[in-house]
Amino acid sequence: MNFKHWLSEEIAIKEQLFQVVKEFAEENELPLPVSKIGEGMEAIVYQTTNPKLVVRITRDHTQSVCEKKMYKSEIQNTGGVVKIIENKDYKDHNISYKEKVNIDVVGFLKKLHPNNYKDIMANIDNIGANWNIFDSEKSLSRLSIKESMEYLSHFEITKNFVKAIQKGVSGADLHQQNLGINSSNHLVVIDC
Ligand SMILES: Nc1ncnc2c1ncn2[C@@H]1O[C@H](COP(=O)(O)OP(=O)(O)O)[C@@H](O)[C@H]1O
Ligand SMILES: [Mg+2]
Repeated sequence: MNFKHWLSEEIAIKEQLFQVVKEFAEENELPLPVSKIGEGMEAIVYQTTNPKLVVRITRDHTQSVCEKKMYKSEIQNTGGVVKIIENKDYKDHNISYKEKVNIDVVGFLKKLHPNNYKDIMANIDNIGANWNIFDSEKSLSRLSIKESMEYLSHFEITKNFVKAIQKGVSGADLHQQNLGINSSNHLVVIDC
């Protein structure tokens, strides 16, 4: 497939995804998608007609293991993941309505904890970097995951995030683009 062909197919797939979300919204009387606000390897995220809600659609419903896990009430109740109000498989896709969060995590932390924000970020990064050796309790870096979680549990902004990880949210895809600050000023996982 040449580049031009690939590009036109990509555009067509994206247009199709928008239509699928629109159809789902109409069928379920949920806010309609308006415009794209984010995109990753697996999903496209749209602002909805409700300013407080976004909607995420995956190209393929098998790519929504994390979303389904985060939707479980015991994980929602930790307050350390983004609030999800609806999640369903729909026509080969997975669709999730979730709270819109502030994605300027570093900017927010910098203002709130000018002296500690670098350490806070480093400890979050450390959890992601060492995730695959979580069970062995070893670490490639200075601190173990356990020590990083202990550090982060002392800050109001990260304590719920630690609870979510302890309850089983995966840290395997932990990076800035998958984190946000929710309306109660807590760090939350938006994708894992
Ligand atoms: N609840 C949200 N509020 C604000 N922006 C979001 C939200 N969810 C996702 N986004 C934006 O969309 C991007 C892609 O979403 P994500 O769920 O991480 O998709 P993928 O699984 O493809 O990485 C995120 O990096 C972020 O910028
Ligand atoms: Mg992501």
